[in-house]
Amino acid sequence: MNQADHLIFIGFMGSGKSTIARKIARLKGMTSVDMDRFLEQEAGMTIPQIFETEGEEGFRAREHAFLKSMAQRDRCILSCGGGIINSPENRALLKDLGTVVYLEVSAQEAVSRISRPETRPLLQGKIPPEELLEQRRELYEEAADITFDTNGLSVGQVVRQVSILLERRGIL
Ligand code: S3P
Repeated sequence: MNQADHLIFIGFMGSGKSTIARKIARLKGMTSVDMDRFLEQEAGMTIPQIFETEGEEGFRAREHAFLKSMAQRDRCILSCGGGIINSPENRALLKDLGTVVYLEVSAQEAVSRISRPETRPLLQGKIPPEELLEQRRELYEEAADITFDTNGLSVGQVVRQVSILLERRGIL
């Protein structure tokens, strides 16, 4: 264990990180923090606007700074943006910040779950989602303490099964 001891959800866009984190936090009376929403509030811009004005590089810098700041926060449930695992520095930070749960989803199911793809700059056509997920799969696995396959499961099923798993391991 470490100082911060957060419960952290990672995974591809559409894996359900934000919803699952919020629902488990509510069930357990914990605080949930959604990284993308925090960055939007801090910047006073939406994610697509941050990408437009600062580029992906600017967005990644914001993401990294925020992840670093989590070491000073009280224990919470954190949902990260899908690209948080891109840099080795972030992957090392994740390890230090708590227990990392990778919510696995296929690219096909992820895309079908995203109701507003225009809010995801990386789904705007440069790299097909299948390829992007393939590029990242190993990085998600490397960063994760626990991998949970969400394919074919409803939000309620994921919340129940992940909660039970984490309770059994003494994490929740
Ligand atoms: C990104 C995922 C998004 C958001 C940004 C970049 C990515 O978050 O951080 O658009 O690189 O996969 P979600 O995974 O919550 O959609």
